[in-house]
Amino acid sequence: MLKTGSGPCRVVVLVSGGGTNLQAIIDCVNDGNITNTEIVGVISNNKNAYALTRAEENGIRARCISPKDYDSREIFNEKLLQAVREYEPDLVVLAGFLVVIPPAMIAEYRNRMINIHPSLIPSFCGKGYYGLKVHEAALERGVKVAGATVHFVDEGTDTGPIILQKAVEVEQGDTPEKLQRRVMEQAEWKILPRAIDLIANGRVNVEKNRTIIKGGFL
Ligand code: GAR
Repeated sequence: MLKTGSGPCRVVVLVSGGGTNLQAIIDCVNDGNITNTEIVGVISNNKNAYALTRAEENGIRARCISPKDYDSREIFNEKLLQAVREYEPDLVVLAGFLVVIPPAMIAEYRNRMINIHPSLIPSFCGKGYYGLKVHEAALERGVKVAGATVHFVDEGTDTGPIILQKAVEVEQGDTPEKLQRRVMEQAEWKILPRAIDLIANGRVNVEKNRTIIKGGFL
């Protein structure tokens, strides 16, 4: 069971860029589409990420932990984990966080850390598939259906238990940018907030490498 304690689910969101997924989460908390949830912090690895501005504008504590500020990857990994711990989160949300998650953090937040990936896993995922590259590869392959996936984070790249997926049709004349935008609008900004709401309300269990969602997921 992923959220059992009393009080709202404490969520930390990790970001690297524009933060449109972060914005979708903030909006859903504000309009009641996500319940029983408090966004307690935002962490970016990139000090110029617009996501940090979005957090500040919404009164959410935000900070940057950049690998550029540390002598080694090991030190960065430690600082990142420390920063996450300080927020005492029930759930860690990777919302466009383009950093390899340190193994110690995966172990500490097993089944309490989720990621949004811009394809229908197991298509176009794994090492090297992130951001626009996913949509370039999908168009190159000529698929007719794209989409997004929310999954728990395990030791593999995009291999953890799948929570929600949503399909999006590819259209004639799509560019990677157009497809990326449609996948965000029609899939990512819907299923990431929905997954958080399900987890925050204790409706998601993990058994082996699968999730079971109480009451269904629609
Ligand atoms: C999103 O499309 C997200 O799915 C992707 O990065 C983008 C971040 O956009 N994540 C990955 O590719 C992870 N493998 P945002 O900063 O506007 O939310």
